[in-house]
Amino acid sequence: MKALILAGGFGTRLRPLSCTRPKLLFPIANRPLLDLIIERLAKNGVEEVILAVNFMAERLEAVFGKTRYGVTLHYSRDKPPKRETPNSQKSLGTGGPIRQAEKLLGKEEPFFVLNGDILADVDYSEILEAHQSYDATATLALHRVEDPSRFGVVKLTKENRIEAFVEKPKKNTPSNQVNAGIYVLEPDIFQYIQAGKRCSIEREVFPKLAEERKLFGHEIKGLWVDVGKPADYIKANALWLAARSKDGRSTKISALRGTKIKENVAIGSGVQFGEISIIGPNVSVGKEVRVGNRVHIENSVIFPHTTISDYSTIKGAVLGEHVTLGRNVRIEEGCLVGDYVTIQDNTTLSQNVKVCPSKKVDERTTTSQCIV
Ligand code: GTP
Repeated sequence: MKALILAGGFGTRLRPLSCTRPKLLFPIANRPLLDLIIERLAKNGVEEVILAVNFMAERLEAVFGKTRYGVTLHYSRDKPPKRETPNSQKSLGTGGPIRQAEKLLGKEEPFFVLNGDILADVDYSEILEAHQSYDATATLALHRVEDPSRFGVVKLTKENRIEAFVEKPKKNTPSNQVNAGIYVLEPDIFQYIQAGKRCSIEREVFPKLAEERKLFGHEIKGLWVDVGKPADYIKANALWLAARSKDGRSTKISALRGTKIKENVAIGSGVQFGEISIIGPNVSVGKEVRVGNRVHIENSVIFPHTTISDYSTIKGAVLGEHVTLGRNVRIEEGCLVGDYVTIQDNTTLSQNVKVCPSKKVDERTTTSQCIV
């Protein structure tokens, strides 16, 4: 069985951290998101994965190479759409890359297609089994959410046929069951996507298949997060840490040099702690990070090689690689700090501030939304 992972988006909502790495390389409990996805596919019998890449394709290829967990990896790079106008985007969207990988996917059997920015604890074999029991061109994994308005929402019949598919409805939401970004597709799908053109599978293909009664759904339960926005990324990290600890997969660390660890926490190799700091809950600290004395970190992700000096506090934020925080720095909820940023002593970044890579921040309190 083959799977195609859509991996070429720009990840604009996670800028500035996504300016220097594709979203699929963002760490979850210190492992790239893509690594978790491929591991799960391998456990479900997938033997070949096609990575549909575009933005920062080389970076993904350099990290993942040709094989992982026994799965062979192929790279299919978006070709710029034909008849380009100066304003057209040089990417194929969520449908175009599937058509472009037609030869790699083949026409013999169904295949999985996955949004690469979904963290989910799903049983892919179960979705395939459901698909095989329907007369479907596409079967979508469906998940129930509280606020369906920012997803593709479906109306399902008793037989699990999707009667209507509405992408990001503004009003009259048909249900709270949404497209989970995980599909089983029959090779027929290629007929619905024009070659060499940008195409949104959600807006152009699924509504048409629903009309033709060829679109089905299969509800999945359990862990599912769309890692699109900063708060969702932090949530994905927290949920994965919790799942890992339930399975007994986490390394229990109770105290390090007088630093208190409040589970769930992931600590990378070579991390150094000072004294009387509090780390956790819901924190990942990447490798070679240096944490000073009396530091407090909760509900946050710290990428590798970053330095956090004494008396600093980080809550609900993400710090990129090689960031340097001075003494007594406060980073508030929703802040994203780009790679190689330096923040001087006694500075506060208030809620949702984004700092572009390599910037030096020395204002005492920063409330502006974006420091470029
Ligand atoms: P935002 O810019 O923040 O919306 O993020 P995104 O670019 O990742 O877009 P979105 O969340 O809609 O993408 C869903 C999935 O499709 C992600 O795994 C993307 O990497 C992938 N994707 C989106 N657009 C393209 C594209 O043009 N080409 C390829 N190959 N993948 C894409």
